[in-house]
Amino acid sequence: MKGIILAGGSGTRLYPITKALSKQMVPVFDKPMIYYPLSTLMLAGIREVLIISTARDLPGFIELFGRGDALGMQFEYAVQEEPNGLAEAFIIGKNFIKDDKVAMVLGDNIFWGQGLTGNLKKAGSFEKGAVIFGYYVQDPSAYGVVEFSASGSVLSIEEKPVKPKSNYAVPGLYFYDETVSERALALKPSDRGELEITDLNLNYLKDNQLTVNLLGRGMAWLDTGNPDSMLDACNFVAAVQKRQGSYIACIEEIAYLNNWISEEQLIRLAEPLLKTQYGRYLKSLIHHK
Ligand code: G1P
Repeated sequence: MKGIILAGGSGTRLYPITKALSKQMVPVFDKPMIYYPLSTLMLAGIREVLIISTARDLPGFIELFGRGDALGMQFEYAVQEEPNGLAEAFIIGKNFIKDDKVAMVLGDNIFWGQGLTGNLKKAGSFEKGAVIFGYYVQDPSAYGVVEFSASGSVLSIEEKPVKPKSNYAVPGLYFYDETVSERALALKPSDRGELEITDLNLNYLKDNQLTVNLLGRGMAWLDTGNPDSMLDACNFVAAVQKRQGSYIACIEEIAYLNNWISEEQLIRLAEPLLKTQYGRYLKSLIHHK
């Protein structure tokens, strides 16, 4: 399975920060935002990742991750010229995906909680179609919203509805089969001029090939779309890390635990950082595996 991180330019609600830097480079407590969605793909066992961003921001990601060797991964990069919608990622990424399945995570979505790895592995083991998630939120109107029948089957998905038909928002994490690029190519832009991920999901639904897995309340799905939710995310990460002493979205740790890098490689990553807590944390992992 391949992975895509869409780190697009939709950071207008964080302006003027995003005038200065890429939204996904903004720190969420102690690490760049993009570490969080990357860690989600890594926990799903995905090693080949395409990062899609704007021409302005892409060089920063290339400098940060290079070809991915330091994590025992393979990174590729592609530009999304204009904010033409999330589903365009599968057109841009067509040659990267080839005949594989693909998981896409949005560059500003943070997932954390008990059982996450199991959920991701389960979602990734599908044969055909698409697997997306539903998560109960207080106010779903800023998201894609799923409507279920009494028996639990999916009736509809609406993008940013004024009157949501349920409280189940669709988080920015999607698993698709190898027909995804073809389906994305057949989409028409919405009224706001974008190829909507919701329309892609509806395309699978119409063929009876869409599965929606509910994420329970023990799972945290955080969004960093505006200054308030950004601060909440920073505080959340800080509180959990300080209390537990283990890190959220430590990509070097996940690479090591996945056996993608050796003990020596982890030490090499930690050495230059030993003046920081992050570096000391990396080094401490050696004794805990
Ligand atoms: C996008 C999607 C929406 C989804 C959300 C998750 O919205 O269009 O369906 O629920 O991501 O973060 P955006 O963040 O682009 O407004």
